[in-house]
Amino acid sequence: MSPRILALESSCDETSASVVSGSADAPRLESLVILSQDVHRIFGGVVPEIASREHLTAVVPVTQQALTDAGRQWDDIDAIAVTHAPGLVGALLVGVSYAKSLALMLRKPLLGIHHMEGHLFATSLEHPTATPPFTALLVSGGHTMLVDVAAWGAYRLLGETRDDAAGEAFDKTAKLLGLPYPGGRHIERLAAEGDPTRFRFPRPMLHGGQREGDPDYYDVSFSGLKTAVLLAVRASDDPAGDTPHLARAFQDALIETLVAKTIRAARAYGRDRIVLGGGVACNRTLAAAMADAARPLGATVFAPTPRLATDNAAMIGAAALFRFAQGQRDGAALNAHSGLPMPGLLVESSDTR
Ligand code: KG4
Ligand code: ZN
Repeated sequence: MSPRILALESSCDETSASVVSGSADAPRLESLVILSQDVHRIFGGVVPEIASREHLTAVVPVTQQALTDAGRQWDDIDAIAVTHAPGLVGALLVGVSYAKSLALMLRKPLLGIHHMEGHLFATSLEHPTATPPFTALLVSGGHTMLVDVAAWGAYRLLGETRDDAAGEAFDKTAKLLGLPYPGGRHIERLAAEGDPTRFRFPRPMLHGGQREGDPDYYDVSFSGLKTAVLLAVRASDDPAGDTPHLARAFQDALIETLVAKTIRAARAYGRDRIVLGGGVACNRTLAAAMADAARPLGATVFAPTPRLATDNAAMIGAAALFRFAQGQRDGAALNAHSGLPMPGLLVESSDTR
């Protein structure tokens, strides 16, 4: 029997619900509703308590809409899945509490899903061949992870950020360039008009002398890049006129670093598929640069469309199809956690190459 799962996502500032069915390798998206909380724009960042309250008013109608859009009744749902980590605890608690109530009321199994595992599954909802083994680059406002995915549930975390996440670097740089929040897409738009020769920033943690096994071989760091932009703004005679050029130089440095590290991983593990995920995967310049660099390897790059790249419940449902088939069932004690290691992380000593 292929199960049908109702999934909820409320880890940050999107209230989302989705109905998915099928299996982890052939998931079927029946509906997806995403309500983005616009209110945070006024504050230039997500305000946790406001996010929780917005989830509280939105979660019931958003879920009801997802069920209606799928043309389903509650009886058609086999399990309830919910993001339970990582994220803003108050925001997560809303989704987890509601999912528990549904599971209890409907007498259906409950599954707590790790948000980052969800991002790994998002692309497979659109691209049937975006399945393991592959190299994954997850780049969002809160995380930057380079993961070798040998199989669903077998993840080797190769690299992370030492400081700012990629999306955070976009957002902070946008702020200092006077652009609205969230700034990633504004930087991308401006960078397209920028002259790439006007400024050049260092490529953080990227140099030819690095060897596999070096601690900085796969890790990234973006706070120095952000500072370099700040210093360049201060030194500029015409900061407003230089904005597109600064955006271009910033984006070039960040993308070159992410691409180089991802290609290193794909080469080291012999993967011919590279899957991008997270909000920064909306950046078409990143996807295009990755595809160019992957070509000599004979590797294909898969980037989800913006709806599935940013936070959404469909990816939680897709991961839940896998976890449900694995036998995962969570009880009434399921809790929300701001940070929790992704399930399925392989310990360094075991080699699954
Ligand atoms: O995955 P996501 O929706 O939320 C988190 O889990 O953080 O990612 C949001 C991030 C923001 O930092 C936003 O600026 C960035 O994704 N982003 C972009 C683009 N679109 C969204 N960054 C670069 N270029 C874009 N086109
Ligand atoms: Zn996310």
